[in-house]
Amino acid sequence: MPEKKEKFYLTTPIYYTNGLPHIGHTYTTVVADVIRRYKRMRGYDVVMTTGTDEHGVNVERAAKKAGVPESEFVAKMAEAWRALWDELGIPGDEFIRTTDITHVRTVQWLFKLCRENGYVYKGHYTGQYCIYDNAFVNDAKPGDNCPDCGRPLETVTEENYFFKLSSFQKPLLDFYKKNPDFIQPDTRRNEIISFVEGGLKDLSITRTTIRWGIPVPGEEPHVFYVWFDALTAYLSAVGGPEYEKRGYWPADLHLVGKDIIRFHTVYWPAFLMAAMLPVPKQVWAHGWFLMDAAKMSKSKGNVVLPRPIVNMLGMDALRYFLLRDVVFGQDGNFSYDALVTRYNSDLANGLGNLASRTLTMIEKYFGGIVPAADAAAEIQEGFWGDVKGLAQALAQSDQAVGSSVIWRYEKCNFSNALEAIWTLVALVDANLSSWKPWALAEYPGKRGILAAVLYNAAEALRFIAVLAHPVLPDSTAVLWKQLGQTGRLDDVRIDQLNWGQLKAGTTISRDKSLFPRVDKTEAIERIEAMANEELNPPKAAPAPAPSAPAAGASAAVAVAPTVSDKIGIEDFAKVEMRVGQIKTAERIVGADKLLKLTVDIGTEIRQICAGIAQYYEPESLIGRKVAVVVNLAPRKLRGVESNGMIVAASVGPEGRPVLTAFLEEVEVGARLK
Ligand code: MSP
Repeated sequence: MPEKKEKFYLTTPIYYTNGLPHIGHTYTTVVADVIRRYKRMRGYDVVMTTGTDEHGVNVERAAKKAGVPESEFVAKMAEAWRALWDELGIPGDEFIRTTDITHVRTVQWLFKLCRENGYVYKGHYTGQYCIYDNAFVNDAKPGDNCPDCGRPLETVTEENYFFKLSSFQKPLLDFYKKNPDFIQPDTRRNEIISFVEGGLKDLSITRTTIRWGIPVPGEEPHVFYVWFDALTAYLSAVGGPEYEKRGYWPADLHLVGKDIIRFHTVYWPAFLMAAMLPVPKQVWAHGWFLMDAAKMSKSKGNVVLPRPIVNMLGMDALRYFLLRDVVFGQDGNFSYDALVTRYNSDLANGLGNLASRTLTMIEKYFGGIVPAADAAAEIQEGFWGDVKGLAQALAQSDQAVGSSVIWRYEKCNFSNALEAIWTLVALVDANLSSWKPWALAEYPGKRGILAAVLYNAAEALRFIAVLAHPVLPDSTAVLWKQLGQTGRLDDVRIDQLNWGQLKAGTTISRDKSLFPRVDKTEAIERIEAMANEELNPPKAAPAPAPSAPAAGASAAVAVAPTVSDKIGIEDFAKVEMRVGQIKTAERIVGADKLLKLTVDIGTEIRQICAGIAQYYEPESLIGRKVAVVVNLAPRKLRGVESNGMIVAASVGPEGRPVLTAFLEEVEVGARLK
């Protein structure tokens, strides 16, 4: 009988649908995903919820501006959010939308319980309201700006249903005292305690000035205040009124940004207490990622988008940077420079290089088979206790041990967990350099110690793969395979690592480099170009002619003869085409139509993928001069960066590509006009 797993329920905030995700939102969802993976590796049955917050005056206005009904507007936006999380590999196990019918029922049910228990009454309220943050601002005067977002407040008078928040001052303070870990980090906890000690005013939880909201049954035109609506989504996602059947409520952890901590640690537990429902166990507030020292927002034009970074460096690189660079809970500044620097130093030159060195040497000196660690040789040479000792200390599953990575994950101390894992990376690396396996390999008598050195490096890498897996899921899974390990790394228990579990005789493989090094300036330029394109998409172009392949898809362009719309010379001039000379060509594993080429375009050598593999042998292309579109934004094809496009005619119904050729001698780099 499989043991019954303990349940663990965690949530991200549900995101507003009047904009699209940037790095700040990505941060919260990445952290949730790291915790989800970590908890699964500890044997929990985990559910992570994310979703979209779709009601309120902001959406009403945005939909109006877009000229579509609100329901259509939010459906599109919710899909865009969901699709991005899927694309980034961080989807919620539950995705709740506040327009879902199950959610609507849960909100109405929660209100009914609060009302039946005597915590709701009808009254009037006039106040200064921030339509962007959906909150009245206490003590603000007409004409003031919102203290949070700085935008102008609006005076709003309404007949409302009020929630008796004032009755919950003592119950909340008692609750915080009894559950000292409820609010994290401690600085936030102190802030909230003094806020509640300062006295709580009743809270209006319905609106009549907004149309786009969940109706209060029998009380139309009242709709629910967006925060009463949104917070309840956490409960709707795991069963709503039938939450007991699924067994995930109360939530173990709500992850939020520091700007919304009050809603989660004051209002939300008070609503639940009023309804006599269980209160969540913990709320963790992280800081902000700032850009140019300000919180990112589209209106300020300082947003950083996740997709271009992922296209250039991979999702693991982004995850690593977000968690490593900033202490969880504090604010941090985002910069592309810091991102690429960390990528090159910690991932490419650090873990990636260590893995590649170790695997290459096992291939070279032991035919790709992990050698047995020679205990006698280890003792004789007084060898390696330090690496083994450090690895074991990091993998210590007793949560009270401060040096353990597990303990640091438990405490959401991610940057510190990664820092600790990287001390092992550095130590193994240093030991390889000082033991010099390449020199040991010269002496048959040193075979035992050579085996020990490489066994221990490989075993340390296995520890690193397991310990870093919650943060670097894709690359550690590749490393896992390269180390000849079978089964899914997700299923490995992070708290059951024992030194020596790597079996001698295991066959390793070394198919690809985990983190190819990049040129910093070039990488930043490319990320910025992609971000620019995503933020300012080109105006809708005329539909491509049927014979043209999907733009950029195969990198072999056919000039479409059937387009009847004429373009001006200025449009043609936007396309920069040059003579390029193919330097290398190779097939791409798993992509039978694509070739990976390096092409000299006069000013630089570019990597370009072309969809011509079924018609051209790679060797036949070396030295050939072709026309290249050089000013296309870079993109990834089957995971391989393509930076430009080779021009070809598309012939016959199957679109056979025929490359361009020049009958006279042309200089590489010459422009085609
Ligand atoms: N819809 C509400 C949450 C309701 S939860 C019941 C909301 N949405 S939001 O889209 O504006 O923000 C969601 C989360 O993203 C918040 O936790 C916020 O702190 C976080 N971030 C938004 N910008 C951020 C940064 N620049 N940096 C880090 N996180 C930030 O609030």
